[in-house]
Formats: sequence, structure tokens, C-alpha cells
Amino acid sequence: MNDRTIYFDHAATTPLDTAVMNAMLPYFSDDFGNTSSTHWYGQRAESALEGARKKIADSMNANANKIIFTSGGTESDNLALRGCARKQLLANKDHILVSPVEHPAVKMTAEYLAQYEGFSLEYLPVDSFGIVDPIDVEKRIKSTTAMVSVIAAQNEIGSINPISELARICAERGVVFHTDAVQYAAHFPLDFRKFPTGMISLGAHKFYGPKGVGALIVSDSSALIPTQTGGGQEAGRRAGTHNTPLIVGMASAYEINISANNSNIERMRQLRDRIITGVLDEIPHSKLTGHPQLRLPNHASFIFERLDANILLMLLDQAGFCCSSGSACKSGNPKPSEILNSIGVSPDWALGSLRVTLGRSNTEEDVERFLVSLPGLVERGRLLS
Ligand SMILES: Cc1ncc(COP(=O)(O)O)c(C=O)c1O
Repeated sequence: MNDRTIYFDHAATTPLDTAVMNAMLPYFSDDFGNTSSTHWYGQRAESALEGARKKIADSMNANANKIIFTSGGTESDNLALRGCARKQLLANKDHILVSPVEHPAVKMTAEYLAQYEGFSLEYLPVDSFGIVDPIDVEKRIKSTTAMVSVIAAQNEIGSINPISELARICAERGVVFHTDAVQYAAHFPLDFRKFPTGMISLGAHKFYGPKGVGALIVSDSSALIPTQTGGGQEAGRRAGTHNTPLIVGMASAYEINISANNSNIERMRQLRDRIITGVLDEIPHSKLTGHPQLRLPNHASFIFERLDANILLMLLDQAGFCCSSGSACKSGNPKPSEILNSIGVSPDWALGSLRVTLGRSNTEEDVERFLVSLPGLVERGRLLS
């Protein structure tokens, strides 16, 4: 990043916290042991692994044995859906309820389960902000429902779902509730006691941790058939030699992020709201996507009529602003986002989406510079679209 480049894409990924990097370093070098070895090196690695597990578990009021380390949010979502659905099928439960605004890691997994493994997939309704009404979940759960999966905070439009309420309803009906909290956990604490039949997916690189590591928190491991078999790591729930440095990094990042949020979240909200009002006031034919208040504190997302988002992103990049249109995986894809489709955005608008996601290092000055530049860039982008 050069001096003039402003990074506004923290929902795609965050920079690694220096303290987190320092916590990881010994496990790349001196403490290189395999957690499964019984000797001194193995014990050092094992103790770091269990320390990391306990750190994450304690901060969400969970028992350490509820944490399964994975290679990231995508794997956690895959393990939750495939692992749980397959187990439930043994009891003739083949009905899966998911929201239509899931990250592809959940949505595509659910679709694969329907296409190749005979599950009956039902999408829940959402309102125009992409939020699920708990009553709709309650009405749709039936005796054959294997699981419900609803994203905690939507990555493209920032809206937050009532996950505690959804978890409570599912628990009352004895149904497993999974939530992809990959974005949510970067901003809000989680209390696992509110998820008695729950599973929660996390990914470290959204909270200033390393890429390639995540976790699935599970209330009941017996509700899961492992998707990766081999060695007995993670109590047989996820085979493969532990990536000790990354796991240590994840736990350190999670802990640091919780205290950083305490001091940062209000500042972030103010910057976010300044961006939202600035854009909507200054740019004709612009709309906010996602809920105005029930949204991630760092997340501002918009649609602009008759504008190709890829052109706007290129102009923004040239002007020194790193933003995205929807999710990172979608950038460069000219198809309208499925998320915007599912909240009823018309095609005239859906191709012109912009996501601006703030982080710890962003300042008021960054935001003001952005607000000065954006109207002209949108105007030019419209001429080129
Ligand atoms: C909501 C959500 N779920 C899952 C993922 C995938 O996580 P990972 O990149 O750790 O595989 C992402 C990443 O963009 C996300 O935003």
C-alpha cells in the first residue's frame, strides 16, 4: 500500500495485527513440533494448541471441547452443513432450511447436498434488508428438518440477523441451528450459552488474524459426521496435522480484537454513518443496501443506478481507494449479485453495487477524502458504463 492508498475493504480481509504475528512466530521456528507427538517438542505444540482453544472458548462462554479448528470460514461452513445434514439423514431427517442471503460457502454446500445427496432444500423468506423473521423459521420447521442455517451478518450488505432468537427457536424444537458468524464475530462478542443446539463458523482473517484458519464451535459433536477423515486430531472431528502457528494466531487475534472493538466500535459507527449520509446526499440515484441500523458497524453498502460496479472499482482504485462490490469472490464477475436479487433489487441497479468496509486504521480524513472523490468518479463511471 502506498501513502495515498486507503484500504476500505476490511470485510474482504484485514491486515495481520503485529502482535498476532509476533505470537505466531515461535511456532514457525523453535516450537515447530507436531501436536500429536508425545515428546518435548510435541508437548510444547500441544500446549499452545490447547491454550488457543481455551482462549477462544473462554471468551464465548463455551467449553474448550466445543471448538474444532479448521482451515477457515469456508471449511467451517462445509463441515457444519455436510457433517450435520449427513448425520441427521441417518434419522430420516432430510429437510434443510437456509436463508437466501448466505455466503456461497453455505449456499453452495446446501445446494450440493440437495443436488447430489437427496436433501430437500428450502429457502427462508427475507425482508428487503435481507433479514430473516424468526416466525418464518418457526413456521417452517417440521419433523424432518435436519438443520437451519442463517448467516449472522451478511457480508455484502452488512445486515444483522436475530441469531439468538433463531437459536432459541431451533433449540426449543430440537433442531440444529448453524450460523455463519465469519463477519459478525469480527465486531460483536458471542455467547455460546445462547446456542444450545448451535454451531458457529468463524474465520480468523476477518479480525486481523492470519488467513487459512478458522473454527467451528459445536454444541454437540455427536451431531456431526466428520467430512475430513484420517488422524484423530480435533477429537476425530477434523483430521490433519494442526497448523499450530495459525491456530495460535487466531486465538491471539480474537482476544485482541474483542478489546479493540470495545474502544473502536463507536468511532467506526460514526465514520460509517458519515459515509452513508455523505453518499446518499451527494450522489443522485444512489441507495443504501442492507439495514440502516441493524448492520455491521464498519459496513456501508450502496447501489447506483445505471453504473457498472467494475468500472467504478477501477476508477476508485486509480484514485487510491480499495473498495469492493459485494463479496471479494464476486469482484470481476459481471453477473448481478444473488444477494441483491434475493432482496428484490432490479437489474438496472444491481450491477452498480459498492461496498465500503472500514477498519481500525481508517480515519475521519480518509472518509472525507473518499466523500470528496466519489461523486465525480460515479459520474465518470456512468459515462463509461
Ligand atoms: C460471511 C462469510 N462466510 C464465509 C467466508 C469464507 O471465509 P474464509 O475466507 O475464511 O474461507 C467469508 C469470507 O469472505 C464470509 O464473509
